[in-house]
Amino acid sequence: MRDIEIFADRNALVRAEADRFVKLTRHAIESRDRCLVALSGGSTPKPLYQLLATMPYASQIDWSRVHLFWGDERCVPPQHPDSNYRMTRESLLDHIPIPTENVHRIRGEDDPHQAAAAYEQTLRAFFGPEDPPRRSFDIVLLGMGPDGHTASMFPGTAASTESRRWVMPVHVERPRDMWRVTLTTVVLNAAADVALLVAGADKAARLHEVLEERGEPRLPVQRIRPCGGGTLHWMIDKDAAAQLRGAVT
Ligand code: 6PG
Repeated sequence: MRDIEIFADRNALVRAEADRFVKLTRHAIESRDRCLVALSGGSTPKPLYQLLATMPYASQIDWSRVHLFWGDERCVPPQHPDSNYRMTRESLLDHIPIPTENVHRIRGEDDPHQAAAAYEQTLRAFFGPEDPPRRSFDIVLLGMGPDGHTASMFPGTAASTESRRWVMPVHVERPRDMWRVTLTTVVLNAAADVALLVAGADKAARLHEVLEERGEPRLPVQRIRPCGGGTLHWMIDKDAAAQLRGAVT
């Protein structure tokens, strides 16, 4: 199941996602006694994290029951300006009462193959022995790059079509030459709720292609299709939605 919501601007999108985040977190904690969240890097989630760190949002969540993971990481040390962990720490973690043992970062400072294998073990300890897992995260936040990548599943990479491994190393030359580590659709599609946060005019043409062009899906973001009752929510601002015609409900 998927739905699409369009907002007047990035701020409205971020506020709506913060409300959804609080609701989903509370629901997961009520029903499963904990909430497992996969966070995204990128510029769109940053203001969301900043908002969640402020009142009333921060106090509406029992952070001691929340476990934070990352959908992808750049292979740099955790204090590096490119680190997704660092961005999240500065915008959210430093401001909320979350126990350090509930924060499960990808070790970007390690060899990418080792970091991916170690992170897969971390996830297996939470999701249980089933492979693929029947249910992974309660909440997944993702962005979409102008080339149609999501997490660090870039077009043409093995990670973007992987059907067995949960976490993979990825080397890409663009937008910058670097190694990254990414979760694959094996675990992302087993989530209960996936939000794709897309803002900005530079995404408009690709978003039209992704949501409205017929034919075989060929972009990594099109492989995000939660199964087993999970839902996909496209949260889009007006600029990114500028070229959408009919798909929007
Ligand atoms: C990353 C991301 C990546 C991001 C998209 C969209 O680490 O770079 O996880 O997949 O979400 O590139 O980024 P923006 O929100 O900055 O457009």
